[in-house]
Amino acid sequence: MLPSGRDTLNRPLRDLRISVTDRCNFRCPYCMPKEVFGPGYAFLRDPQLMTLEELTRIARAFQALGVEKIRLTGGEPLLRADLPELIRALKQELKVPDVALTTNGWLLEKRAPALRDAGLDRLNVSVDALDDATAATMNGLGFSAARVLRGIDAAAALGLPIKINCVVQRGVNDGQILDLARYFRERGHPLRFIEFMDVGNTNRWSSERVVPAREIVERISAVWPLEASGPAYRGEVAARYRYRDGGGEIGLISSVTEPFCRDCHRARLSADGKLYTCLFASLGWDILGCLRSGADAAELQAYVARIWAGRGDRYSDERAEALATGETRAKVEMSYIGG
Ligand code: GTP
Ligand code: 5AD
Ligand code: SF4
Ligand code: SF4
Repeated sequence: MLPSGRDTLNRPLRDLRISVTDRCNFRCPYCMPKEVFGPGYAFLRDPQLMTLEELTRIARAFQALGVEKIRLTGGEPLLRADLPELIRALKQELKVPDVALTTNGWLLEKRAPALRDAGLDRLNVSVDALDDATAATMNGLGFSAARVLRGIDAAAALGLPIKINCVVQRGVNDGQILDLARYFRERGHPLRFIEFMDVGNTNRWSSERVVPAREIVERISAVWPLEASGPAYRGEVAARYRYRDGGGEIGLISSVTEPFCRDCHRARLSADGKLYTCLFASLGWDILGCLRSGADAAELQAYVARIWAGRGDRYSDERAEALATGETRAKVEMSYIGG
C-alpha cells in the first residue's frame, strides 16, 4: 500500500460497488434497451463470474485498503441465488460495517427475509413511476409498479432501511415526480431523483432528456416546501433536502448538472472481476484474472493499491467539455459495471 492510500486527485478508497451479475429481469431503456440486450446478446457465462469464495477474497483485499462500505448491484443482484451467502460472508467473516444492495425490487417480496437474516444493512430500490403505463415504459417490459411496491413494504416490515431511486427522463416520467414524492413521503422512505446520465453507448442519451435537479426541487417545493440539509457523510452522491413540514427527505443525484467527482471514493467491480475506477470508464483491470493466476492476498492488495494510486478519473466534471468538442469514446455499460 502506498503511504497515502490516495489517488492522483487525493481521494481515498472507501466504497466498493460489486456487480454480481450482468443480467437483469427488466429492460429499462435508459440502461438495457431491449433492442440491444435482446435474445442474441452475449451475457457473461457462469465460469466467467466471480464465485462466492473469489468474491470474498477480493472484498477482503479492498477492505485491507480502506473500504468500509460495500454495495451489491448488477444487473439485478437478486437474480443471483447465492446472494444471501455472500452477504453473510461480508457481514460475519469480514465484518464490513455497511453492506447495502441496489435492486429493481421485482423479487424482493419473496427474498427480503433471507436478505435480512443474512445481515444486510439496507437497500436502495428503483421506482421510476407509480402509474401503470409509465412504469411499463420505464422497465421496458410492460410491468406495473405494484409488485415492486409490495416488495418495498415487505422489506420495510422486516425493519430494513430503504431508499428509493428514480431516474428522471423529460417527456417520459417527469410527470410522475409529485406522485412519487407524495407516495414515499407518506411511507417515510427517502426518495432520490437521478438525472438521466450518458452511461454506456446504447441508451440514446441526449441533454434534452435530462431534467436538472434544480427544476425537480422547485417543482416539489411548490407543493411541499423543501430546505437543503447537509450530507450524511463526506462524498455522499445525493444532495439532501428535507420537507419543512417534517415529512421526511428527498435526495438529488445531479451527475450531469452538478458533478461530484471531487469526493469520489468509489471503486467498481464487474461480475467478471474487473476493477473500474469510474462509472464512465472504458477499460477495467483484471482482478479476478490476477487471483485465478495464483496471486496471494498481499499480491492482490498491492495490485489494487497500485491501480488506485494511478487513478485520475473525473468524467462528470469533464463531460461539458467533451460534449462541446464532440469527443466520443466507448464506455462500459452500466448493467455490466454496476449502478
Ligand atoms: P448511499 O448514499 O450509500 O445510499 O449510496 P448511493 O447513493 O451511492 O447508492 P445507489 O447505488 O442507490 O446510487 C444511486 C445512483 O447514483 C446510481 O444508480 C448512479 O446512477 C448514481 N451514482 C452512484 N455513484 C455514482 C458515481 O460515482 N458517479 C456517478 N456519476 N453517478 C453515481
Ligand atoms: N442514468 C441514471 N441512472 C441510471 N441507472 C441506470 N441507468 C442509468 C442512467 N442512464 C440507475 C438505476 C438504478 C441504478 C442501478 O442505476 O435507476 O437506480
Ligand atoms: Fe435492470 Fe436496473 Fe438496468 Fe433497469 S436500471 S435494466 S432494473 S439493471
Ligand atoms: Fe466518480 Fe467517475 Fe462518477 Fe466522477 S463520474 S463521481 S469519478 S464514478
